[in-house]
Amino acid sequence: MRILLGVTAGIAAYKSAVLLRLLKEFGHEVDVVPTPASLKFVGTATWEALSGRPVTTGVFEGVDEVRHVRLGQEADLVVVAPATADFLAKIRAGRADDLLTSSILASEAPKLLVPAMHTEMWQNLATAENVQVLRERGLEVMEPAEGRLTGKDSGRGRMPEPEHIFARIQQFEQPAYSYAPLAGTLFAPDPEVQPPMAGRTVVITAGGTREPLDPVRYLGNRSSGRQGVALARAAAGMGATVRLIAGVVDAVLPEAEASITVERIETAEQLRDAVVRAAPESDVLVMAAAVADFRPAAYAQTKIKKTDDGASPVIELERNPDILAEAVQRRDASGDGPAVIVGFAAETGSEESDPLQLAQQKLARKGCDLLVLNRVGEGLVFGQEDTEVHLIASEEAERALGASEPQRVTGTKHQAAQAVMKQTAALLAARG
Ligand code: CTP
Repeated sequence: MRILLGVTAGIAAYKSAVLLRLLKEFGHEVDVVPTPASLKFVGTATWEALSGRPVTTGVFEGVDEVRHVRLGQEADLVVVAPATADFLAKIRAGRADDLLTSSILASEAPKLLVPAMHTEMWQNLATAENVQVLRERGLEVMEPAEGRLTGKDSGRGRMPEPEHIFARIQQFEQPAYSYAPLAGTLFAPDPEVQPPMAGRTVVITAGGTREPLDPVRYLGNRSSGRQGVALARAAAGMGATVRLIAGVVDAVLPEAEASITVERIETAEQLRDAVVRAAPESDVLVMAAAVADFRPAAYAQTKIKKTDDGASPVIELERNPDILAEAVQRRDASGDGPAVIVGFAAETGSEESDPLQLAQQKLARKGCDLLVLNRVGEGLVFGQEDTEVHLIASEEAERALGASEPQRVTGTKHQAAQAVMKQTAALLAARG
């Protein structure tokens, strides 16, 4: 999408730099239009460097290309984050005294305003009335979050986290949210278009597990959970109801997003129980979690201490259940549960076998329908933004999809997530 990102004069402008990065990483084209006063918080150089495009603020710059009209006309979506109380008042009044307000007036694209201000300003009747009028006109005004504000105070008025704004923006790209102009600047979702996963329930596991050793120590792994969270957002963007079962993650988890509920677990056994509970009522199960294959055989009730003889303790391990294989077995035995089960494989490969071969073997061993192969090792994948995955289908799934070659996807984890969910939706549709 081509996005016009407006930035007004609030301290939360720094968070919009993160939002801009997310949008760019996903592949959107973004024109940043800051208000002149907002440059006191974040300067032109930052916006130009991150967007890769020139940045201006006034209507008398770029006059030859009629920039104050062109930017708004060319945008598929206008996002303003942060949107101050003053800015909301101006938009309500139809003012056009800088590039941002002029572009908004000249744009027929859907508009998402993300307010950020002190609680008193948000609750002030003037602001409340402005928000109501803007919403009645069809502009979307996001609810501000609650939490720490600029100073020591906290309350409602905080700008939602960039990841949450990003998730909302992604939904504009889906057909169900393709906004059709009604009149003037009014927009409404097109009720005719159904998104590919409408009415489906998708269970996604994400992050790493922690296997406790004693009250202060555990065995863990380096999964960031970002791929799982990206999958949850991609599925929600396609209209699915998502249950995200998250272990230890280093990513911001969705919150207050109506179509995604989050359940937290810690150990592999807790994850197994959560999957066994959720799977029967789901259409899709995606096992993106990095499950510990082993756990300490015994849990020490008190902290394991060093001993005077200098000896090191020996930690005995035992196997954890294979959650993915069990989910496939349960489905096949009962004929009930997820029509599509997606597994992940993290492979380094070896001198004797290449990663694709290992992944094909794993797919057959686990019995799932699709397998997402991640190459790991030498700084690849864990905790990185960019990724390279191969989507491998079982023989039966290959026939249903009419494709026989593994699909290679490179890009950000969001792009990989979209590709995985697209193929999952296609297989789900083929299986009825
Ligand atoms: N998985 C699982 N339960 C486990 C281990 C893994 O459900 N106890 C799932 C993962 O979520 C992933 C897939 O199985 O979807 C592959 O995990 P991976 O660790 O790569 O494979 P392993 O089964 O551990 O095989 P290997 O030891 O050969 O790497």
